[in-house]
Amino acid sequence: MNVKRIRKDFPFLKRKIIYFDNAATTQKPRVVINAIKDFYENHYANIHRGLHRLSQEASRLYEEAHEKVAKFINAKFEEIIFTKNTTESINLVAYSLDLKKGDEVIVSQMEHHSNIVPWMMRGVKIKYIPVKDGVLEIEKIEDMITRKTKVISCTHVSNFLGTINNVKEIGKIAKEHNILFLIDGAQSAPHMKINVKKLNCDFFAFSSHKMCGPTGVGVLYGRKEILEKIKPFLGGGDMISDVSFKGFKVNKLPWKFEAGTPNIVGAHAFGIAIDYLKKIGMNNIFEHEKKLTNYALKKMEKIKNIEIYGPRKRAGIISFNLKGLNPHDIAMLLDARAKIAIRSGYHCVQPLHNKMGLKGSARVSFYIYNTKKEIDIFIKSLNEIANAL
Ligand code: ALA
Repeated sequence: MNVKRIRKDFPFLKRKIIYFDNAATTQKPRVVINAIKDFYENHYANIHRGLHRLSQEASRLYEEAHEKVAKFINAKFEEIIFTKNTTESINLVAYSLDLKKGDEVIVSQMEHHSNIVPWMMRGVKIKYIPVKDGVLEIEKIEDMITRKTKVISCTHVSNFLGTINNVKEIGKIAKEHNILFLIDGAQSAPHMKINVKKLNCDFFAFSSHKMCGPTGVGVLYGRKEILEKIKPFLGGGDMISDVSFKGFKVNKLPWKFEAGTPNIVGAHAFGIAIDYLKKIGMNNIFEHEKKLTNYALKKMEKIKNIEIYGPRKRAGIISFNLKGLNPHDIAMLLDARAKIAIRSGYHCVQPLHNKMGLKGSARVSFYIYNTKKEIDIFIKSLNEIANAL
């Protein structure tokens, strides 16, 4: 993987910023930015609503993006629904399923708020797979399952601890009990090869903006047999095949779940981002980030007064604190001293922070354009901040 060449593709690097906030969102390569401009200048119209050539072109490009996403995770075209983001994808499942009061949903203690709050809003009983030493206690799931358990919904990679969960195993347990299984892939799909057919899942949710694509495009993969059975979440144009004053018939998949004018241009640009990542190779991306993470961890462990959270074997996410300093101060000092962008706070994982007795943490997260040299600068600044305490 030629990082030097990759870095040339990212215009933001001209600002000499060290961008370590990739779990929040990633920067965009020039090909993606240009694709947006080209679409608006040359092919723009609404989709599935016009016989004129521009509408035909726009529809083709929009559908091609579904096709690219489907291939990217080994799914069928009809199984790919475009939403606004991962959050909306999880909400779509929560609201489309026929859940009743008293039904139970199992999530984990390391979930992002977006995989807790929608279930709370649906009024179901939520059970939490416990976290011990930064790892899920998967062996406890069996005992948590009852006849009322309808869904298990779990993150693939923790956006706080970096833990890579054995979702395949969780999916196996779900399958044995005939329970639906949803994977939040927001922090995995951008960084590793995903094959939904091998993960034993019924749903897999992720976002374009965390993998070089634009904001405003999320993906929900759903197994065809399930998507055919469940009700649409939103009603309106394009999700119907027939409407009368009395009722409506739903459109075929995936349009049944895509009501209203979607993010046409964003979806196309997301397809271009996928082409870009595929060219680099998802396995190369995973290996590159593994090297960076191990390199950073080794150096961070030596810093005075540091506390690092999560297991040693992890994805490219490292959350930490310097004893005696607020994580927001760490973030502000790193930005002021060396133009280093990191995230601080709860990272939308407040319950687990609270359980660990933390009022937040500082977080670095890596991507394809990050280098060991950037990590060295970060370590130097962090050392200076720690030693000044
Ligand atoms: N979920 C994103 C993060 O972890 C926004 O920062």
